[in-house]
Amino acid sequence: MIKHFFLSLLFIFSFEANGWWDKGHQMVCDEAYKLLTPEAKKSLDPLIEEHGSFGVACLWPDWVKNDDRKDTRSWHYINLPDSEQNIYKATCPKNGCLIYAFHKQMKVLTNFTESFRDRAEALWFIGHFVGDAHQPMHVGFPEDRGGNDHKVILPDGTEANMHSVWDGEIIEHMDSLYGEEYLLNNVSKKIYEFLNHPQSLEFESWAQESRDIAMQKSVGYRNNELKLITNRYMESHFQTVHERIALGAIRLSQTLNNIYQESN
Ligand code: ADE
Ligand code: ZN
Ligand code: ZN
Repeated sequence: MIKHFFLSLLFIFSFEANGWWDKGHQMVCDEAYKLLTPEAKKSLDPLIEEHGSFGVACLWPDWVKNDDRKDTRSWHYINLPDSEQNIYKATCPKNGCLIYAFHKQMKVLTNFTESFRDRAEALWFIGHFVGDAHQPMHVGFPEDRGGNDHKVILPDGTEANMHSVWDGEIIEHMDSLYGEEYLLNNVSKKIYEFLNHPQSLEFESWAQESRDIAMQKSVGYRNNELKLITNRYMESHFQTVHERIALGAIRLSQTLNNIYQESN
């Protein structure tokens, strides 16, 4: 309990610095939750309870990765060099990567002989990793650490990097233009639009889509091309952000619903 209090404090004070993609993660999981079947909800609710919502539970992996779970840091991304665009050919480093970690946590969640705590953490990791897999810069190049070393200048003249632009600056700009409800309203619209489209439930294919987006000329990531982030740049990618969050939510819900369909 006390530990949680301090973790929350840490979280609040680090919000300015790296709390950006939190909105995306939280929305992927909260919107996925709304799409769960009653059976899935019944099984998953106890695993979420201590966080109050699935959305908040899905932030936990970011709270612990720089604290007592440093071993999980490399689980949040998978990088490939420019010479290898096929995600299925990616090699995972020794500590693991996004794809390895997702499959590993799926095994834990679906193994009912695992402890309650391990299965709860597995669920929080899974929700979080589906969000990461839909963020283009989490499937970036190893040389620039997924855009963290790709320096850019923001419209207000401050320095940032490509990773943080996609983790949060685009959403921050969206909020400042249209208010906080705009993101959720647009994600909801996209969910409604995509819900009846058949979805691949292969995690690798979601990461491949992110990779393909990261490689698009308009993104300016490849060859370290883009140096100056304009408002126009960010606005031209609003729709991509809405779509990635919506697809993450739909696919996460279907992945979880499938577990409880199979075991019934
Ligand atoms: N560190 C190295 N690669 C990274 C990536 N793609 N995303 C976040 N952190 C990283
Ligand atoms: Zn992450
Ligand atoms: Zn990130």
